[in-house]
Amino acid sequence: MCGIVGFTGNKQAADVLLDGLSKLEYRGYDSAGMAVLDENGTTSVVKAAGKLDHLKQKTDNGRLLPGTCGIGHTRWATHGAPNEKNAHPHLSGALDDDPSEYRASDVIGVHNGIIENQEELREKLLRHGYQFYSDTDTEVAIKLVDYYLKKYRIGPIDAINRMMVRVRGSYALALMFREHPGEIYAARKDSPMIIGISEGESYLASDVPAILQYTRNVYYIENYQAARILPGKVQFFDLNGDEISLEQVTITWDAKAAEKGGWEHFMMKEIHEQPQALRDTLHHYLMDGQLDFSQAGLTDEILQGADSVCIAACGSAWHVGMTAQYVIEDLAQVPVRVELASEFRYRKLLLSPKTLVVVISQSGETADSLEALRIAKERGLKTLSVVNVQGSSIAREADHVLYTLAGPEIAVATTKAFSAQLMVMYALAVQMAYVRGRIDREQYEGYMKELSAIPDKVASCLETKAHIQRIAARFSGARDAFFIGRGSDYAISLEGSLKLKEISYVHSEAYAAGELKHGTISLVEEKTLIIGLLTQRNVMNKTLSNMAECKARGAFLLGITQGENSEAQSQTDDLISLPVSDEHFSGLLSVIPLQLLGYYSSVSRGLDVDKPRNLAKSVTVE
Ligand code: AGP
Repeated sequence: MCGIVGFTGNKQAADVLLDGLSKLEYRGYDSAGMAVLDENGTTSVVKAAGKLDHLKQKTDNGRLLPGTCGIGHTRWATHGAPNEKNAHPHLSGALDDDPSEYRASDVIGVHNGIIENQEELREKLLRHGYQFYSDTDTEVAIKLVDYYLKKYRIGPIDAINRMMVRVRGSYALALMFREHPGEIYAARKDSPMIIGISEGESYLASDVPAILQYTRNVYYIENYQAARILPGKVQFFDLNGDEISLEQVTITWDAKAAEKGGWEHFMMKEIHEQPQALRDTLHHYLMDGQLDFSQAGLTDEILQGADSVCIAACGSAWHVGMTAQYVIEDLAQVPVRVELASEFRYRKLLLSPKTLVVVISQSGETADSLEALRIAKERGLKTLSVVNVQGSSIAREADHVLYTLAGPEIAVATTKAFSAQLMVMYALAVQMAYVRGRIDREQYEGYMKELSAIPDKVASCLETKAHIQRIAARFSGARDAFFIGRGSDYAISLEGSLKLKEISYVHSEAYAAGELKHGTISLVEEKTLIIGLLTQRNVMNKTLSNMAECKARGAFLLGITQGENSEAQSQTDDLISLPVSDEHFSGLLSVIPLQLLGYYSSVSRGLDVDKPRNLAKSVTVE
């Protein structure tokens, strides 16, 4: 998703913008640009297709853009090709080779989101004499602000408010106005944006890492709010143009946590942070050996009162839901359905009024998950979110939020946040089972002992690195891979498959082991890689039989199991044996070798592990 950075204060803006944009590279992008507005109202705008280095080269590391007020952007293309013309910032005036034209622009802006009615607005503006140089919806929004500014002879905030009333879609907008040097204006609907303040300086960004080294004092601008940002001061306005006040929040993240810290890739660093992330997350909810979610307002009465659970999420977060479903149903004996958030938002959902809707999201900004949450709330359903980024939209809008304490996760491929989410869901399952009388005190304490032992067992799983690296190297040329399992092993195989394909670009599929023979096994041929998850003892032999069917067709069988497993040892070509845990919670262990397999496969192919092509860390558009 696009990255936005803004600064106004007593530093060279370009330095802050380039630094902030580099901290947002993990969000995924294909072009970049920035604009600086000097005290005379002169605007310098530079854009570049490709990586941020191209922009740094074009601006001599920002030295060609003097000034103390500016905005910058990394673009993940939604409308229009990823080229320089479509890169942000966009202008109300024309864009041609003559830099002086920039000075003719009264409004300059950057945007994250999608303007859904941009076509009709483009037509309207064309009728009023505007000309467009790009294919982007952002240029339409910027020119619309300019149109209102001039038609009604109003100020920036009123023009922005008129724009917000007229456009449909999502936006985090940062704007500068030629007649207001030193000031930045912002407007938000659905796309994330924070505003930071320090002594005599003000910052604006899409996400915390961009400004964390400058300030921890931030404001989360809400939907349909606008802001006027001055050096060291910010004013907020509602849609009527009335000034409002927002609560200032202090970010508790450790700035170092958002750095690579000597690791080659953020992903490997974050894989290794999992034991600590799991300890921090579990202990956050443990009081004298007893789980306590009351800090989130999630009382035992709520957990007793729900007659069903509906989990809505995307991607790996959905895999967390798929895994947790088995454990909640088995322990708490509560029916659970797991929905892809992008489906949830358009289905005619027949949910009981006593359904507890759980939205799981690392970023807390995923558009589909946020909309699913809003639909659940509109239906009057109790909502709980499991989120990693503090203060994010999903965290703030859910009735209750259980934070994961994984710290900032920079790699696009999630690992420690996935595991921390799964730990929260396991704990929720145990607590639901206990408060509903499905398990007694002794069983409760047994499960809590098991969960508390998981972090150290995860640390042991990391010792399979060398083994996994050899397997990845052996299959670096693989075209297909299949991850199979039954029960919660099937759910974890979904995550293993995504980890492999999203960063190594190897096509892979996860399949319920018993389903292969109903068609997909026709794809299995000599040397096809089959990864079988074998941690659920009651169905393990069935999965081994399905693996044998693949071996009979030339496949290579890799097994992932727990403890001593002579059947698996004799029936697979290679076997990863993990520490033994309660089978309900084995997903936290079996996912580790699968994360490592994805990582080493990507490295063996010389790919950009942390920033895979076409992907973004947080998908804040539909
Ligand atoms: C996981 O490795 C992917 N990066 C992606 O599937 C991600 O899990 C999904 O986009 C959901 O993101 P969220 O947890 O921030 O909502």
